[in-house]
Amino acid sequence: MTALRLCFFSLFCLAASQKIPRLKLIPTDRLNASFAEKAELLVLFHDAGSDQLFIGGREQLWILTFKDSAVTPTQIQLSADEKVKADCKKKQRADQECHNFIKVIQRLNATNIIVCGTNAASPKCWLLDNNNTYYESHTFKINAGNIVPALPSQTAVTIAVDGNLYSALSGSKSIIQRSYGTKRLIKTEDNWLTRAEFVSAALLADSNKVNDEIYFFYNEVNNSAGLDDEPYKAQLGRVCKVDEGGKNMLIDSWTTFLKARLVCGDPRDPKRFHHLRDAFLLKESRTLYGVFSSSWGKAAVCKYSMNEISSAFKTPKLKGYTGPLSGYRIGTCISPSSQTQKNTLTIIKDHPEIETVIYPEGQHPLYLLENNENYTRVVADRVRDASNVTRDVLFLGTDQGKIHKVLQNGEQTVIIAELSPFKKEAPISSMVLDTTMGHLYVSTEFEVVRLLLADCDQYKDTCWNCVLARDPYCGWDPNGKTCSAVAQSGNHTSLRLLQSLDPQSTDVCKGVEDQKNQEALKKVSVDPTSYIYLPCPLRSYHATYTWIKDDSKEYPCSIDRESCTLHFGESNPMGQGIFKCTSKEEGYREEITAYEVTLNGGRMPEVSLVVVATGILFLAITILLL
Ligand SMILES: *[C@@H]1O[C@H](CO)[C@@H](O)[C@H](O)[C@H]1NC(C)=O
Ligand SMILES: *[C@@H]1O[C@H](CO)[C@@H](O)[C@H](O)[C@H]1NC(C)=O
Ligand SMILES: *[C@@H]1O[C@H](CO)[C@@H](O)[C@H](O)[C@H]1NC(C)=O
Ligand SMILES: *[C@@H]1O[C@H](CO)[C@@H](O)[C@H](O)[C@H]1NC(C)=O
Repeated sequence: MTALRLCFFSLFCLAASQKIPRLKLIPTDRLNASFAEKAELLVLFHDAGSDQLFIGGREQLWILTFKDSAVTPTQIQLSADEKVKADCKKKQRADQECHNFIKVIQRLNATNIIVCGTNAASPKCWLLDNNNTYYESHTFKINAGNIVPALPSQTAVTIAVDGNLYSALSGSKSIIQRSYGTKRLIKTEDNWLTRAEFVSAALLADSNKVNDEIYFFYNEVNNSAGLDDEPYKAQLGRVCKVDEGGKNMLIDSWTTFLKARLVCGDPRDPKRFHHLRDAFLLKESRTLYGVFSSSWGKAAVCKYSMNEISSAFKTPKLKGYTGPLSGYRIGTCISPSSQTQKNTLTIIKDHPEIETVIYPEGQHPLYLLENNENYTRVVADRVRDASNVTRDVLFLGTDQGKIHKVLQNGEQTVIIAELSPFKKEAPISSMVLDTTMGHLYVSTEFEVVRLLLADCDQYKDTCWNCVLARDPYCGWDPNGKTCSAVAQSGNHTSLRLLQSLDPQSTDVCKGVEDQKNQEALKKVSVDPTSYIYLPCPLRSYHATYTWIKDDSKEYPCSIDRESCTLHFGESNPMGQGIFKCTSKEEGYREEITAYEVTLNGGRMPEVSLVVVATGILFLAITILLL
């Protein structure tokens, strides 16, 4: 059930499997904030360990304080000046473009956060201090146009490293530059990026700080691609933190910029995922997780080794260049020496792409999504399980406002749960992880929510519920008889918790408890000519469900959204007896529900116990409640 093979495309049978979430949950412990329709939330910023969340939207900056199970908003109005707005309208721009859309919020240093907006097609930044007092950009030297685009439709990606800002702006003239700070402000040459649409950026720190690299993840978009051509090409670009630009050429440009193709798929398989939607670098395991979509309507998750990527850039073969590479080693993070410089920089200037194509670990996606949903965002956490082994957990936001919590552990990938925290369905637009506090902040255009990473109450009823969840954040406490959070800071107390994350070893609950989950036997008296259904509520979508009559005859049932319903019909005539629905998962069998059906010999059915052809599900639920 967990790994339905996708065999429509024969090659995929070998590689990627489709996945469905095991559980569908509404997070119990969450703090929501909703905004007005026109708020158009765009960007989140959060300092790990704090209880504040900064949100940028249309003409507004909100600072939400999450404290004592309440959210307190502070609103800072950041409108474009009337004069700028009037100029914007004079230039016949669309009304939408003549507002201030806050698109960048980054912490610069211990005392200041920088906030930048489109400002009616005239980019502008503000500095915010720790008392939430803000200063306009004329009080500090900044070129806002290097940090934020002029139009709301253009995307910006920003990362702050050691007090310097690195910015990537999308559009017909896309650019990656060091845009603010104490170091030299340098940029990409015009021919290095072709219509790049940036999705994210990350610092890959090294034990030797000289080798620190900054990565940008983006798509090259071909707007004139034909119907059968792939319009997207996922890429990653890299610069070194130590780069100070060239001496006698490339004076204002990177001397360490290189780029490579990023592919999600098998090198031997033409069906690949080319459209990168988001990428997240998990620093602790030097792993890159990317979410992709394809022109043929499927979504995939791919995992890459940053060590492999980094070494591909450090020992490159340059695309289209066959001449000698002597002197200074292209790809290493040092400033080139002045005598070899000119020659080397000429090569770099014309050949920024490396030949190596970056394929995922194992040369296939971790999995594909089963339906036509897409992933829009990804973040990942490195978690200590109950046995103090580290595991990767991904949180993936969908375009339908859901979050998938996924255990990624070597060859094993399990969608632990699909979380539905929002009131209104809209694509997930931002996610920020705070591992210090154990929180995940998620937003759509309309809402923001804070979730617990370890929401163990969801699996609290029995040891089996807790253990089969395969959630590394949670384990069964046999003394307290509850599903508890595994301590993430070095403490031995978690080692008592029962957990079983690897397949085929879920017998840890044997002898722990005998408490059963099932409901009491429900008595139903029906007219033999009526048409009835018996519902069996689903919990795990990875379990198999069967109905058994009088402990002997098995009946199949068909799974609909929330139930494995037993239908009676010609091939499956109704009879008198005890019908039990059981689930089986990983060797664990559980009785979910049981009905004693008696036939009432043609008398009128007892009120509300008979489920006739109309309103079936509703009445079936009525029975359940009896
Ligand atoms: C932080 O950055 C701002 C803007 O560059 C600067 O004015 C301020 O002095 C810096 N503060 C510290 C403590 O470095
Ligand atoms: C874009 O697609 C068109 C049509 O397939 C092709 O001719 C063109 O070379 C492509 N441009 C780039 C930059 O790849
Ligand atoms: C470890 O757990 C004990 C008991 O819960 C607690 O008193 C102690 O402060 C914890 N130590 C750390 C380092 O978290
Ligand atoms: C868990 O492992 C880490 C490193 O592997 C170690 O530093 C820590 O003390 C361990 N914690 C426990 C509770 O054993």
